[in-house]
Amino acid sequence: MPCTRKEFSDQNTLTAALAEKIGALLSAGIAKNGRASLVVSGGSTPVALFERLSGLDIAWQDVGVTLVDERWLAPSEVDSNEYLVRQHLLKDKAASAIFIGMKNSAGTAEAGETECAQQLALVPRPFDVLVLGMGGDGHTASLFPGADKLQAATDLSQDKLCMAITPPVAPYERMTLTLPAILNARRIFVHITGEKKKEALEKALADGPSEVMPIRFILRQKNVPVTVFWAP
Ligand code: 6PG
Repeated sequence: MPCTRKEFSDQNTLTAALAEKIGALLSAGIAKNGRASLVVSGGSTPVALFERLSGLDIAWQDVGVTLVDERWLAPSEVDSNEYLVRQHLLKDKAASAIFIGMKNSAGTAEAGETECAQQLALVPRPFDVLVLGMGGDGHTASLFPGADKLQAATDLSQDKLCMAITPPVAPYERMTLTLPAILNARRIFVHITGEKKKEALEKALADGPSEVMPIRFILRQKNVPVTVFWAP
């Protein structure tokens, strides 16, 4: 199944379209299975999307929400993805969503891996909707090129849900969903904005090793439909 690309004239139009699509998929999941799940990324790109989603009139009390990755910081710290999601998504109509974070009281992400996996196992899978971001270097979630654990985290023959990983350049030790966990989704959206990321996407869609631009692991797989949403 090839990945599909959708381009929008501006970020507001993209945000409205993506939020509407996500809402429809979550509602369909709830109608079919009684509950649904939404997995989101951190970073700056999803803030407007989170705001828009928080106003959607859907049965949020039946939606499990979690993260594709987390920086190993207290949830009260501004660089924590949980903090971001609590500030911008888990409010208004979405205040009743069931949030399951990745961070726990372990001193390091590595020490917190088992507990994190136990928590993540509470979120309904296959995930109904999983939204990824992408860095200019082609990283997605915390699957960074050159990371110590990149090979282990992208090994499709292992069944870990999450793995501690240290990016070679970006700050903080992280917890990331593994590639098999990311691909245990019904729909994946890659949400990117700006010309630089469009250039990075073109590069990722061209030939080259997946390890060099880990978003390629997502763009090249054939099992889960992937739609890339882009606006300038
Ligand atoms: C994180 C992420 C990460 C993010 C990209 C893009 O926690 O940082 O989940 O993979 O999606 O780095 O980040 P921006 O949206 O800030 O460009």
